[in-house]
Amino acid sequence: MVAITRVKESVYTPAEKAPEPNLGSEIIPKERYISKDFMQLEWDRMWTKVWLIGCREQEIPETGDYLTTEIGNESLLIVRGEDGKARTFYNVCNHRGNQVKFDECGNSRTLQCAYHFWEYDLTGKLISVPDEQDFTQGCPKDQLSLKAVKTDTWGGFVWFNLNPDAEPLMDYLGMVPQHLNPYHFENMAMVMNVTVDWDCNWKTSVDAFNEVYHVQCIHPELSYTIDDVDIQIDLYERHNRYLVPFKTYSPRLGEDLQEVPEGLADELRAIGMNPDEFHGRVPEIRRAVQEYKRANAETIGIDYSEFNDDQLSDDYHYFIFPNITMNVMAESMMMFRQRPHETDPNKMYYDVTMYVTVPKTGKAIAANFMGDAGPPLPDHEHVKHGERSLGLVLDQDSVNLPHVQKGMNSSAYKGLWISGQERRIRHMHKTLMDYINGEYANDA
Ligand SMILES: [Fe+2]
Repeated sequence: MVAITRVKESVYTPAEKAPEPNLGSEIIPKERYISKDFMQLEWDRMWTKVWLIGCREQEIPETGDYLTTEIGNESLLIVRGEDGKARTFYNVCNHRGNQVKFDECGNSRTLQCAYHFWEYDLTGKLISVPDEQDFTQGCPKDQLSLKAVKTDTWGGFVWFNLNPDAEPLMDYLGMVPQHLNPYHFENMAMVMNVTVDWDCNWKTSVDAFNEVYHVQCIHPELSYTIDDVDIQIDLYERHNRYLVPFKTYSPRLGEDLQEVPEGLADELRAIGMNPDEFHGRVPEIRRAVQEYKRANAETIGIDYSEFNDDQLSDDYHYFIFPNITMNVMAESMMMFRQRPHETDPNKMYYDVTMYVTVPKTGKAIAANFMGDAGPPLPDHEHVKHGERSLGLVLDQDSVNLPHVQKGMNSSAYKGLWISGQERRIRHMHKTLMDYINGEYANDA
């Protein structure tokens, strides 16, 4: 690994290896992936206790902008108030239980139920009831206002927590802001927003992105652009990460490549380097990329001053418990949000969003995605598995998942037999079981 350049000592992503916890080696019971009883336990003790990403702040920029999002059986309504604050409410009118908003997003000065026109202001307060005198029991506004959900923001995202006694978001995120603030997600622009219905448990998807053991098998092309062996894995309290060297090639190829492989050459061209002008050894390309970006930051238009050298080439891949997977690069971030199905443990919703840093000057990297003014907010697409390509690598990832889920339901299968390089999966299960067993119950 290349020596770390800490340009600004006070704000850098720690690269140090975290102490390795002993997580044992037991089989992980498959029931956690297929059982409705376990699914209910997850809802009661985990989903309703953790901080979850509701939307992007950029999706509700103006007063009165709202967005609906679902987790399990609940629909949440996230609204931008007149004071500029984002608030989250259960999306249900307290009259007859109609959903206040049916559509995915919009803008309105008040939140009016479409059934009998009960009307709430942007803080959720009930302000108008047609024929109010006809309710002999009265319409006490303090009891009939929209039920608010704890809401906070970090990284340009609106987060919510269904537990009214939840700890603050920053306490929940732990080391995450210190690690990821240098990327300034809040300044990134969303350029892709797709939800796919997948026939697998939400954890089957989380697991698929928390190990690189499968790369040699289903992503043969990546052997020529990433090192899938020399991975640093760090397991923190709830969350974890691995650091994957990019702009290099896999030691599994078993040879010292003499020529720049085509996949790597394409990546060099994409950032403005000419592979034909590179005369060093192929393993030196990663370092050359780091030096090139550092030297050409002004032209590229990206401020790299808060990054160490490795961050200029590598994927700092973070998992924020329970359902956020982030491929974090110096100029972009790809995020997967895994959401459970309402009733079926064998189904889930896979939300793929992509963000890029808007360049201050120049056109190089991010200009692949946008004009000078930044990209328009992408439409949200919701598709079934197979209806739309997500790109070669994600398409490769998704092939096995329904078959994993089907296999897990077999009486012949007992549970996950996990290797060392897959230990982020074991770590996620430890956190999950800590919630199930009530370890975090008294957090607030
Ligand atoms: Fe993969």
